[in-house]
Amino acid sequence: MGIKIMPSLLSADFANLQSEIAAVGSADGIHVDVMDYRFVPNLTLGLPVVESLRKATDKLLDIHLMIEEPDRWAPSYAEAGAESVTFHVEASSAPVRLARELRARGARAGMALRPATPIEPYADLLGELDLILIMTVEPGFGGQKFLDVMLPKLRRTRELLDATGADIWLEVDGGISADTIARCAEAGADTFVAGSAVFGADDPDAMVNTLRSEASA
Ligand code: DX5
Ligand code: ZN
Repeated sequence: MGIKIMPSLLSADFANLQSEIAAVGSADGIHVDVMDYRFVPNLTLGLPVVESLRKATDKLLDIHLMIEEPDRWAPSYAEAGAESVTFHVEASSAPVRLARELRARGARAGMALRPATPIEPYADLLGELDLILIMTVEPGFGGQKFLDVMLPKLRRTRELLDATGADIWLEVDGGISADTIARCAEAGADTFVAGSAVFGADDPDAMVNTLRSEASA
């Protein structure tokens, strides 16, 4: 897979998730934001909803855990059948062990970094991972302004990932729109989360295709 567009359900209608997923048929996967009122000052949904989503769609489920104690909770999301499970490294006490547990359960193991968290301390861990998520806003809410200052970190992460020679996705999340996606693609991202840009559009599926062509340009 090259460019991947992942609409975030955070900006969808939570009372109609099945029809919201159906409205983005061109998407490569569905991004699901799990928040616990502790790691971030917001609350969304948890394992029971992810289990129901698994039954409701064959689309790739890209789970973004913005929770404390991911070492304790993340493996269940892989067991629920999510193709990709991403934890925040700031919250994990044993990221290598957790990544191995996610892989052992058949998921791509993802590691997310808040804007203030540098990538360099984790350079030696990258071979244990299948996805690196560089947050381009402070995690917690949709509709925030894209942080341009994250572009150098994105470029640096791309260099480190290329040096591993492994198939590791480089994902960006926060403020991704038709105006900002090309900058992220140019800096090396290949996986793009978009919430308000997609579900706030008059035609969400057309916006998925617009984002894909802007990222490929
Ligand atoms: C925010 C979430 C994002 C959110 C992005 O912390 O991780 O996935 O849905 O929303 P937009 O695309 O509106 O910035
Ligand atoms: Zn997210």
